[in-house]
Amino acid sequence: SRTRVLLHPDFTVGTVDRRLFGSFVEHLGRAVYTGIHEPGHPTSDEHGFRRDVADLTRELGVTTVRYPGGNFVSNYRWEDAVGPVEQRKPFLDLAWRTVEPNLVGTDEFLQWAEREGIQPMMAVNLGTRGVEEAVALLEYCNGEAGTRWADLRIANGREKPYGVKLWCLGNEMDGPWQIGHKDAHEYGRLARNAGAAMKLVDPSIELVACGSSSMQMATFGEWERTVLEYTYDLVDHISMHAYYEEVDGDRASFLGSGTAMDRFIERVVASADAVGAQRRSDKRITISFDEWNVWYLTTRFPGEENLPIQRDAPRIIEDVYSGLDAVVVGDLLVTLLNHADRVPVACLAQLVNVIAPIMTEPGGEAWRQPTFHPFATTARLAQGEALDLRVTTPGITTKAHGEVPSVTAAATLSDGTVALFLTNRSPEPVEVELAHPGAALDVTEGWSMTADHEAAVAGPEHAEKVAQAHWGSFDVAGRVAGGVGTTTTVTLPPESW
Ligand code: AHR
Repeated sequence: SRTRVLLHPDFTVGTVDRRLFGSFVEHLGRAVYTGIHEPGHPTSDEHGFRRDVADLTRELGVTTVRYPGGNFVSNYRWEDAVGPVEQRKPFLDLAWRTVEPNLVGTDEFLQWAEREGIQPMMAVNLGTRGVEEAVALLEYCNGEAGTRWADLRIANGREKPYGVKLWCLGNEMDGPWQIGHKDAHEYGRLARNAGAAMKLVDPSIELVACGSSSMQMATFGEWERTVLEYTYDLVDHISMHAYYEEVDGDRASFLGSGTAMDRFIERVVASADAVGAQRRSDKRITISFDEWNVWYLTTRFPGEENLPIQRDAPRIIEDVYSGLDAVVVGDLLVTLLNHADRVPVACLAQLVNVIAPIMTEPGGEAWRQPTFHPFATTARLAQGEALDLRVTTPGITTKAHGEVPSVTAAATLSDGTVALFLTNRSPEPVEVELAHPGAALDVTEGWSMTADHEAAVAGPEHAEKVAQAHWGSFDVAGRVAGGVGTTTTVTLPPESW
């Protein structure tokens, strides 16, 4: 049976919010220190931030960066990391059991983001702290002169408010590993109280309530329902987090991860809409998918509780990615684009060194992991409206997700330019018949990532090798048979994006 993709410019899903191409910088491992920040590095600017990493961040097309955590935020005292650096004291972060030197804090991060044209997304600590600290931090960031915390910011050298728009009400509060973990009622009440107070400081902000840490959580569904019953009228978004990995060599299930993400989104949307329906509300809660990626969490990560206390930005969770991982990342982006109407915000977790598309050596190079390429290309090309495609394709049976489509597709349309994203999850090449009755297409560029069986090895040389072997622009004339009226045929290599 064949694969057919039907696209028509009149059938759209919704506008692609640029914040879909967000990422995440947590005070974890080497994400901040020797990641974005490394005074004395040959490329560092006068603020101690690495130019090479900032340049790659721009090339990646990242629009929004979430900060400062992650699990880290749930025991963070933001006040300890503002003001004169030499007066700041290190603290023991219990989430990752690492000594945090507090050299980079709110001001350093927000000014870096501003210089790089990135919209920040801040999280408040609802683990060990509460309403008072949340409103204080918001006032510090967004307040006008004349009140305590805004004046402290000004005294610290920053006159103009930062105007941070997006705020997470805590992080993964459903997770028993979270410092100050709460049940759904405790968290729902706290999120509502903190959020309501924050909106009194600055009514223009958007709030994200914590959803489930993954679809596998025992409380999934019930958690969303309860939390939204407390916060429905107040928050704009509910968060989703999901990490995927290849387990026991089950390649087919891993390649089908995008379908798992798709079902997860549909279930969270259904849970949110059920709460809205019961309230007879016309408001629609949207999703902040503020942590997603491939992460070899169960197979390579030793487990948070076993970490010894470390200092000096230890190397933790530095996953090395293969072409296969990059194909899956590309396919996860296909899923996100197909939900453009309900997912306006998403963050690839994370940006640098920690499960990241960008890697660095202290004092040395910065380089792109294979997963960098599908992200950067999607961020660059997915513009305007996401199209509502009709895809007919054979199914593949997987152990983890049952039947999944062998080919997935998403497309966007902007100013007469279509960007089409396709994943072939099957081990065979697939010919895709692309029907576009709305107009003829003139194919101008093509890029592809293939999976292959290449083992992942650390270092810039490997990343370069993967780029040469698996990633690149393809010869459009060789692979695309176009121009025949309103049908174009594209051949997809096995296991490719
Ligand atoms: O991104 C790494 C960690 O994954 C984050 O700190 C946490 O929120 C999630 O469990």
